[in-house]
Amino acid sequence: MNTLFIGQNFVELQAVESTNRYATKLLPTGIPEGTVVLAHHQTAGRGQQGNQWHSAPGKNLTFSLVLYPHYLSSPQIFLLNKLFSVALYDFLRVELPEADLWIKWPNDLLLNRQKVAGMLIENQFNGPVIGSTVAGIGLNVNQRIFPTELYGNATSLCRETGGEYALRYLLEKLLVQIEARILAVRAGRTEQIERDYLRHLFGYQEEVDLLIDGRAVRRYLAGVDRHGRLALQNGQQLDYYNIKEVAFCL
Ligand code: BTN
Repeated sequence: MNTLFIGQNFVELQAVESTNRYATKLLPTGIPEGTVVLAHHQTAGRGQQGNQWHSAPGKNLTFSLVLYPHYLSSPQIFLLNKLFSVALYDFLRVELPEADLWIKWPNDLLLNRQKVAGMLIENQFNGPVIGSTVAGIGLNVNQRIFPTELYGNATSLCRETGGEYALRYLLEKLLVQIEARILAVRAGRTEQIERDYLRHLFGYQEEVDLLIDGRAVRRYLAGVDRHGRLALQNGQQLDYYNIKEVAFCL
């Protein structure tokens, strides 16, 4: 592994319920920072907002990463979502130089307007600081066929390019990008992450179509506040939304 600490402790599982759950259970044993738990098959992969994460066995990357980001206070928590989003973006951009690629707030990766990757970041607090973080990443790579309920919403690298990818090779490249961004945050250099997140954010400083309270609306996307809420211009004022309150119409 071409990294300093990310993935140096590597747990590879043929099948597990969920790598996030598995990694969380390991936390009390004091596993080293940077531990990666990878599964070839998740039998109950978890997504955001209590959703399932569907991934065909052996086709995609599904892994979790353990961090101890004591250097972050709880108001900075959304920085982790930004960090992983831009790392995934940079990694995908290298693989797909010409692709229509965006970060969709809060932390999905869109390829040709369809979701190619998602993340589930779970933090455990020690008072006001983050004691540990389990960051689970699902990246669709070689899966060609998705369940009908995801049809039109999900895609993979292989669906967009026609090629087959070596999962291990991609994982190492992605971990290098993640580590570079973590080292920057550790050193207190967060501005570049903030800038890159907005630069690659779908609809930033544009009018976007959304569903709010079941109603289709068009709003100017002004940004994301430090708590990670989406800031939408509504007439003269800015309204702030949490993830459950708004959905993009792509
Ligand atoms: C989402 O977009 O809804 C988040 C998806 C996160 C999926 C990954 S796959 C590895 C890790 N283990 C899980 O159970 N979920 C995350």
